[in-house]
Amino acid sequence: MPMPYREKKIDHMLVDRETIDAFIKRLGKEISRDYRGEELFFICVLKGSFMFAADLIREIDLPCQIDFMSVSSYAGEKTTGVVKINKDLDSSIAGKHVLIVEDIVDTGLTLNHLKSLLSTRNPASIGIVTAFDKPMRRRVDIHVDYVGMEVPNEFIVGYGLDLDGYYRNLPEVAVLSDKE
Ligand code: PRP
Repeated sequence: MPMPYREKKIDHMLVDRETIDAFIKRLGKEISRDYRGEELFFICVLKGSFMFAADLIREIDLPCQIDFMSVSSYAGEKTTGVVKINKDLDSSIAGKHVLIVEDIVDTGLTLNHLKSLLSTRNPASIGIVTAFDKPMRRRVDIHVDYVGMEVPNEFIVGYGLDLDGYYRNLPEVAVLSDKE
Protein backbone atom coordinates (compact mmCIF):
# COMPACT_ATOMS: atom_id res chain seq x y z
CA MET A 1 0.00 0.00 0.00
CA PRO A 2 1.46 3.43 -0.87
CA MET A 3 2.59 5.55 2.03
CA PRO A 4 0.41 8.61 2.67
CA TYR A 5 1.93 12.00 1.91
CA ARG A 6 2.63 12.96 5.50
CA GLU A 7 4.59 9.78 6.17
CA LYS A 8 6.96 10.30 3.28
CA LYS A 9 10.12 12.04 4.37
CA ILE A 10 12.39 14.21 2.36
CA ASP A 11 15.70 12.39 2.30
CA HIS A 12 17.89 15.17 0.99
CA MET A 13 17.87 18.32 -1.09
CA LEU A 14 19.12 17.68 -4.62
CA VAL A 15 18.87 21.05 -6.38
CA ASP A 16 18.89 24.37 -4.54
CA ARG A 17 17.31 27.66 -5.61
CA GLU A 18 20.59 29.18 -6.72
CA THR A 19 21.19 26.32 -9.15
CA ILE A 20 17.64 26.55 -10.50
CA ASP A 21 17.87 30.34 -10.90
CA ALA A 22 21.22 30.00 -12.67
CA PHE A 23 20.03 27.48 -15.26
CA ILE A 24 16.86 29.47 -15.92
CA LYS A 25 18.94 32.56 -16.67
CA ARG A 26 21.24 30.51 -18.91
CA LEU A 27 18.32 28.97 -20.80
CA GLY A 28 16.65 32.37 -21.19
CA LYS A 29 19.83 33.77 -22.76
CA GLU A 30 20.35 30.75 -25.05
CA ILE A 31 16.75 30.72 -26.28
CA SER A 32 16.63 34.51 -26.76
CA ARG A 33 19.86 34.31 -28.77
CA ASP A 34 18.83 31.31 -30.89
CA TYR A 35 15.47 32.80 -31.87
CA ARG A 36 16.66 36.38 -32.30
CA GLY A 37 14.42 38.26 -34.75
CA GLU A 38 11.56 35.79 -34.28
CA GLU A 39 8.52 35.48 -32.06
CA LEU A 40 8.09 32.48 -29.79
CA PHE A 41 5.06 30.47 -28.79
CA PHE A 42 5.55 28.58 -25.53
CA ILE A 43 3.44 25.56 -24.67
CA CYS A 44 3.35 24.84 -20.96
CA VAL A 45 2.50 21.17 -20.40
CA LEU A 46 0.44 21.01 -17.21
CA LYS A 47 0.70 20.47 -14.48
CA GLY A 48 4.35 20.02 -13.56
CA SER A 49 5.86 22.72 -15.77
CA PHE A 50 3.74 25.66 -14.57
CA MET A 51 6.45 26.98 -12.24
CA PHE A 52 9.35 26.54 -14.64
CA ALA A 53 7.38 28.10 -17.52
CA ALA A 54 6.49 31.12 -15.37
CA ASP A 55 10.15 31.64 -14.45
CA LEU A 56 11.56 30.90 -17.90
CA ILE A 57 9.40 33.29 -19.93
CA ARG A 58 10.49 36.15 -17.67
CA GLU A 59 14.02 35.55 -18.93
CA ILE A 60 13.03 35.64 -22.60
CA ASP A 61 14.01 38.81 -24.36
CA LEU A 62 11.75 38.32 -27.41
CA PRO A 63 8.08 38.84 -28.21
CA CYS A 64 6.36 35.69 -26.99
CA GLN A 65 3.03 34.09 -26.23
CA ILE A 66 2.20 31.20 -23.94
CA ASP A 67 -0.60 28.66 -23.96
CA PHE A 68 -1.32 25.60 -21.84
CA MET A 69 -2.01 21.94 -22.54
CA SER A 70 -2.93 19.15 -20.20
CA VAL A 71 -2.22 15.58 -21.23
CA SER A 72 -2.31 12.21 -19.54
CA SER A 73 -1.57 8.64 -20.53
CA TYR A 74 -4.51 6.55 -21.62
CA ALA A 75 -5.31 3.90 -19.04
CA GLY A 76 -3.23 0.90 -19.89
CA GLU A 77 -1.17 2.82 -22.44
CA LYS A 78 1.69 4.00 -20.21
CA THR A 79 4.13 1.84 -22.15
CA THR A 80 3.35 3.37 -25.53
CA GLY A 81 3.16 7.00 -24.48
CA VAL A 82 -0.09 7.55 -26.35
CA VAL A 83 -1.51 10.56 -24.61
CA LYS A 84 -5.02 11.81 -24.08
CA ILE A 85 -5.51 15.55 -24.42
CA ASN A 86 -7.40 16.80 -21.37
CA LYS A 87 -7.00 20.43 -22.38
CA ASP A 88 -5.90 21.50 -25.82
CA LEU A 89 -4.36 24.79 -26.89
CA ASP A 90 -6.71 27.74 -27.26
CA SER A 91 -5.08 28.98 -30.45
CA SER A 92 -3.45 27.78 -33.64
CA ILE A 93 0.32 27.17 -33.82
CA ALA A 94 0.44 27.19 -37.64
CA GLY A 95 3.46 29.15 -38.86
CA LYS A 96 4.74 29.78 -35.32
CA HIS A 97 8.02 28.92 -33.66
CA VAL A 98 6.92 26.63 -30.85
CA LEU A 99 8.79 25.61 -27.73
CA ILE A 100 7.24 22.89 -25.56
CA VAL A 101 8.06 23.53 -21.89
CA GLU A 102 8.38 20.49 -19.63
CA ASP A 103 9.42 20.08 -16.02
CA ILE A 104 11.05 16.70 -16.60
CA VAL A 105 11.80 14.29 -19.43
CA ASP A 106 11.89 10.73 -18.18
CA THR A 107 11.14 7.92 -20.65
CA GLY A 108 10.48 10.57 -23.31
CA LEU A 109 7.24 8.84 -24.33
CA THR A 110 4.95 11.77 -23.46
CA LEU A 111 7.00 14.29 -25.40
CA ASN A 112 7.57 11.96 -28.31
CA HIS A 113 3.85 11.63 -28.81
CA LEU A 114 3.08 15.27 -28.07
CA LYS A 115 5.72 16.53 -30.49
CA SER A 116 4.39 14.28 -33.28
CA LEU A 117 0.87 15.45 -32.60
CA LEU A 118 1.79 19.14 -32.61
CA SER A 119 3.94 18.74 -35.73
CA THR A 120 0.79 17.91 -37.71
CA ARG A 121 -0.48 21.43 -36.98
CA ASN A 122 2.18 22.99 -39.24
CA PRO A 123 4.26 25.10 -36.86
CA ALA A 124 7.27 26.91 -38.38
CA SER A 125 9.44 24.94 -35.95
CA ILE A 126 9.01 22.93 -32.81
CA GLY A 127 11.51 22.54 -29.99
CA ILE A 128 11.61 21.24 -26.45
CA VAL A 129 12.90 22.86 -23.27
CA THR A 130 12.94 20.99 -19.97
CA ALA A 131 14.03 21.96 -16.49
CA PHE A 132 15.21 18.46 -15.60
CA ASP A 133 16.30 15.47 -17.62
CA LYS A 134 16.70 11.83 -16.61
CA PRO A 135 18.53 10.51 -19.69
CA MET A 136 19.17 7.09 -18.17
CA ARG A 137 15.41 6.43 -18.15
CA ARG A 138 14.92 7.20 -21.84
CA ARG A 139 12.95 4.65 -23.88
CA VAL A 140 12.60 6.60 -27.11
CA ASP A 141 15.21 8.61 -28.93
CA ILE A 142 13.88 12.14 -28.64
CA HIS A 143 15.97 15.26 -29.07
CA VAL A 144 15.61 17.73 -26.21
CA ASP A 145 16.82 21.12 -27.40
CA TYR A 146 17.35 22.83 -24.05
CA VAL A 147 18.03 21.15 -20.70
CA GLY A 148 18.27 22.92 -17.35
CA MET A 149 20.15 20.07 -15.71
CA GLU A 150 20.43 16.31 -15.71
CA VAL A 151 19.24 14.53 -12.57
CA PRO A 152 19.95 11.01 -11.30
CA ASN A 153 17.37 8.24 -11.44
CA GLU A 154 15.75 9.02 -8.09
CA PHE A 155 12.23 10.03 -7.14
CA ILE A 156 12.35 13.80 -7.01
CA VAL A 157 9.74 16.34 -5.98
CA GLY A 158 9.48 20.11 -5.77
CA TYR A 159 9.62 23.03 -8.18
CA GLY A 160 6.44 21.71 -9.85
CA LEU A 161 7.26 18.00 -9.56
CA ASP A 162 4.83 16.03 -7.45
CA LEU A 163 4.02 12.91 -5.51
CA ASP A 164 0.28 12.29 -5.80
CA GLY A 165 -0.20 16.00 -6.43
CA TYR A 166 1.77 17.12 -3.36
CA TYR A 167 5.18 18.78 -2.99
CA ARG A 168 4.87 20.91 -6.15
CA ASN A 169 5.20 24.02 -3.97
CA LEU A 170 8.70 23.22 -2.68
CA PRO A 171 10.96 25.94 -4.07
CA GLU A 172 13.86 23.48 -4.41
CA VAL A 173 14.06 19.91 -5.67
CA ALA A 174 14.32 17.12 -3.12
CA VAL A 175 14.73 13.36 -3.13
CA LEU A 176 12.08 11.45 -1.22
CA SER A 177 13.06 8.69 1.13
CA ASP A 178 11.70 5.28 0.23
CA LYS A 179 12.02 4.10 3.84
CA GLU A 180 8.79 3.36 5.71
C1 PRP B 1 5.48 14.22 -16.07
C2 PRP B 1 6.20 15.32 -16.85
C3 PRP B 1 6.11 14.88 -18.26
C4 PRP B 1 6.12 13.37 -18.15
C5 PRP B 1 7.48 12.87 -18.43
O1 PRP B 1 4.12 14.50 -16.08
O2 PRP B 1 5.61 16.57 -16.64
O3 PRP B 1 4.94 15.33 -18.88
O4 PRP B 1 5.76 13.03 -16.80
O5 PRP B 1 7.49 11.48 -18.40
P1 PRP B 1 7.94 10.61 -19.65
O6 PRP B 1 9.17 11.23 -20.23
O7 PRP B 1 8.23 9.26 -19.01
O8 PRP B 1 6.79 10.54 -20.59
P2 PRP B 1 3.09 13.74 -15.12
O9 PRP B 1 2.46 12.62 -15.90
O10 PRP B 1 3.75 13.38 -13.83
O11 PRP B 1 1.96 14.83 -14.91
P3 PRP B 1 2.04 16.25 -14.14
O12 PRP B 1 2.93 17.14 -14.96
O13 PRP B 1 0.62 16.71 -14.16
O14 PRP B 1 2.58 16.01 -12.76
